Amino acid sequence: MSIGEKDKKYVWHPFTQMKTASDALPIVKGEGTLLYDDKGQTYIDAIASWWVNLHGHSHPHITAKVLDQMKSLEHIPFAGFTHKPAVELCEKLSAHLPANQQKFFFSGDGSSAVEIALKMSIQYWRNKGEKRGRILALDGGYHGETFGAMSAGGRSVFSAHFNDYLFQVSHLPFPSGEESVEALKSELAKGDVAAFIFEPLVQGAGGMRMYSPEILDQLIQLCKQDGVLCIADEVMTGFGRTGTYFACIQLKQQPDFMCLSKGLSGGVLPLSLTTCTNEIYDAFLGDDITTAFLHGHSFTGNPVGCASAIASLELLEKDECWESIERIHGRHLGFAKEIEGHKLVEGVRVKGTILAFDIKVDSTGYTSGIKDVLYNHFIRQGVLLRPLGNVIYVLPPYCITDGELDKVYKTIISGLEKIAI
Ligand SMILES: Cc1ncc(COP(=O)(O)O)c(C=O)c1O
Repeated sequence: MSIGEKDKKYVWHPFTQMKTASDALPIVKGEGTLLYDDKGQTYIDAIASWWVNLHGHSHPHITAKVLDQMKSLEHIPFAGFTHKPAVELCEKLSAHLPANQQKFFFSGDGSSAVEIALKMSIQYWRNKGEKRGRILALDGGYHGETFGAMSAGGRSVFSAHFNDYLFQVSHLPFPSGEESVEALKSELAKGDVAAFIFEPLVQGAGGMRMYSPEILDQLIQLCKQDGVLCIADEVMTGFGRTGTYFACIQLKQQPDFMCLSKGLSGGVLPLSLTTCTNEIYDAFLGDDITTAFLHGHSFTGNPVGCASAIASLELLEKDECWESIERIHGRHLGFAKEIEGHKLVEGVRVKGTILAFDIKVDSTGYTSGIKDVLYNHFIRQGVLLRPLGNVIYVLPPYCITDGELDKVYKTIISGLEKIAI
């Protein structure tokens, strides 16, 4: 039996349970931006493998550091024990994070990082003896698949079966004007808000929806005046994606928590962090165990994941990586101009290394049928692009070459021509 046939027999893939779903493609190798299937066909990974990959696949520097770490220490419980890779990673990261982010709590994926920030926010107010428990979030946000993260996310086809089980979150309108500011003011007036969670500057899974730092600053400032804790979910936006180390660097106001994952390990191993201020950490110190944050995962602080993250940061710290981020940004702006007038295209937008636009179709949203037509077309052309419903976006590893970007853009144009027929 081939890998493809065995896969069909055993594996339950995300999002592909419909009877019409095509078979999964066996991938045998990744190198730079290219993925190779079992027949030697290559695909440009123009979505950085679900937004995780920064420096390309199987990068020799990350591979070497991971192998070295595997040889000396693969895993230990991260309670009562510590190790150099975890401490070194925190030290390295603190040079790039907003100055108020001082404490680091490890977990293994973005949803857990969000879950932890939400739980910490709720317990923070309990430890302080204040009755605040309500969470605010943004319409159309996405924060992950676990119940807390789903509760904070916008209601969608992903949450539909579970809506009755989610805790109540007040969702503010997408921050495009005064409406969200007014909505926030009226929520704050009720007086019981614990925390406000948001994806800074770009809502990813919600359709690469972009908004300005100015309006987010306004929202955070209002929250701060009221003591509400602000949680920046930088799982997607972190590590250079929006043109700065973190999207929050583009703000005047700094959040109380940050959630990091995806690019944290360079996209190589599952790893996440919830970072916070010393003031929050201090509220969990006490003589009574119930004051502590009683939360831990088996693979918390995994040394190999940390080694991968350190190696990835070393690459990110190089000038050539930032030159590449700038270059991709410039190329995206050029392509945005090229497609702006296209009859099927609207809402062209660019932020850092992310380019996105909407296709004018009757059926919008994630379930829009256009996504499968385009996905299949792109794959046949040797380009991995996964439209979010009627939203096409490009979010590549930073090592993508100009030639590869040309091919990605050309493939998008040919996809537009195909659906225009
Ligand atoms: C902003 C944001 N937060 C959280 C998550 C969840 O991360 P994970 O898939 O690693 O659980 C995602 C995943 O796409 C995300 O984009």
